[in-house]
Amino acid sequence: MESVKIGLLGLGTVGAGTVNVLKRNAEEIERRAGRSVEIVCASARDLNKPRACDLDGVRLVADPFEVVTANDVEVVVELIGGASLSRELVLKAIEQGKHVVTANKALIALHGNEIFAAAQDRGVDVAFEAAVAGGIPIIKAIREGLAGNRIEWLAGIINGTGNFILTEMQSEGRSFADVLAEAQALGYAEADPTFDVEGIDAAHKLTILASIAFGMPLRFADVETQGISAVTQEDVQYAEELGYRIKHLGIAKRQGRGVELRVQPVLVPEQALLANVNGVMNAVMVHGDAVGSTAYYGAGAGAEATASAVVADIVDVVRLLTADPGHKVPHLGFQPHAINDLEVLPPSEIVCGHYIRMRVADESGVLAKISGLLAESDINIDAIQQKEPEGPEDDVTVVMLTDEVREGDLAEALSRIESQSFVRNGIKRMRVAHFDH
Ligand code: NDP
Ligand code: HSE
Repeated sequence: MESVKIGLLGLGTVGAGTVNVLKRNAEEIERRAGRSVEIVCASARDLNKPRACDLDGVRLVADPFEVVTANDVEVVVELIGGASLSRELVLKAIEQGKHVVTANKALIALHGNEIFAAAQDRGVDVAFEAAVAGGIPIIKAIREGLAGNRIEWLAGIINGTGNFILTEMQSEGRSFADVLAEAQALGYAEADPTFDVEGIDAAHKLTILASIAFGMPLRFADVETQGISAVTQEDVQYAEELGYRIKHLGIAKRQGRGVELRVQPVLVPEQALLANVNGVMNAVMVHGDAVGSTAYYGAGAGAEATASAVVADIVDVVRLLTADPGHKVPHLGFQPHAINDLEVLPPSEIVCGHYIRMRVADESGVLAKISGLLAESDINIDAIQQKEPEGPEDDVTVVMLTDEVREGDLAEALSRIESQSFVRNGIKRMRVAHFDH
């Protein structure tokens, strides 16, 4: 049987990794897919740049639209990134009746609703396993492996760069900037690393996970998004003293009439599985009503780890070429007519424990006043620590953990505390995440 002809957009970290894996494992891939796979055409901005892969026999072009419209290309693999040009290219490929594989979470989170509708109309597939958690087959696990469940919640470390930075800050005491530069050199970071550091990349991925878990449209704008740039060595150390580690998590959870969608640094008990996922590794826990809690772990970024997911999607698409496209797995795992929108709850409605840090005057009765003001709002303190006075003013740092509380109630209580004369500056807080269901 003739080989399936691939057109590749992008020859950077993931593009080169994909070429290498396709070549090295060509025999295994053909045994699995039923046909061999051949890259016939590839595009990059700079055709003279040395590449980390062998491009013998591949037609190289500077204009990515040439790849998409080439007569000999049957499957387009988009590995350029960004959400604007990639949207145009992918819509063009679909219009041409070509299947698409992409690793681009920004594209799917922002334009997935439009892209999937266009693909559905044209009867082609858009596969995006590599868009979430690098090499971990989490899309397949939720969409297919857990298809018998009502998914209650999922929580995960879904940005490798952010986890690498937090791990190195925690274990080696290294500076934020230094570790970020290393993540960039290793090819983990996005073209714009603020996407990693400010939680945007994780929010893209959480948007996708929530849609396939709950069967809702992609709602990126509604994800509450915080990154790791405000996490200090001090917080890392205080959390550790309380028996916690700070991890940047994406959390999607059914809650009453709606869902919580949030990415942020949270305190995770040090013995919990997610607290022990380090470096560039990602892990996602998914809780289904039938199966209970499940966990998926692996490299969240990097050339070949990501290529592993890209190539798996290529194999799926090749299998589809010989099957009935009407019977393929739906893009979001739910049939298009069965996608139901859900209300995304505002942060004030989220109920969880909190880590609170504030600087106060070293006076008697301060701790009693703080706990009294919290008690007025029925907020229990789980742990409280007063640190040794430092600095010329003799102020002290107070660190505490609260019981579960509705965030709106906590915010009101903290603003009453903040207005007390003994409080020296803004109060810092982070949510605590327990997964003991
Ligand atoms: P790179 O920046 O390493 O590679 C991007 C490639 O696209 C380069 O070959 C570049 O050409 C080409 N390119 C960029 N802009 C344009 C443009 N305007 N027109 C034509 N070609 C262009 O990115 P990655 O390989 O790291 O990432 C690719 C995709 O995979 C992104 O969507 C990313 O989010 C996703 N991803 C990345 C992971 C990783 O670990 N790196 C993991 C999971 C997903 P040139 O080389 O000539 O500059
Ligand atoms: N920049 C991303 C990360 C790449 O660090 O997780 C993988 O999606």
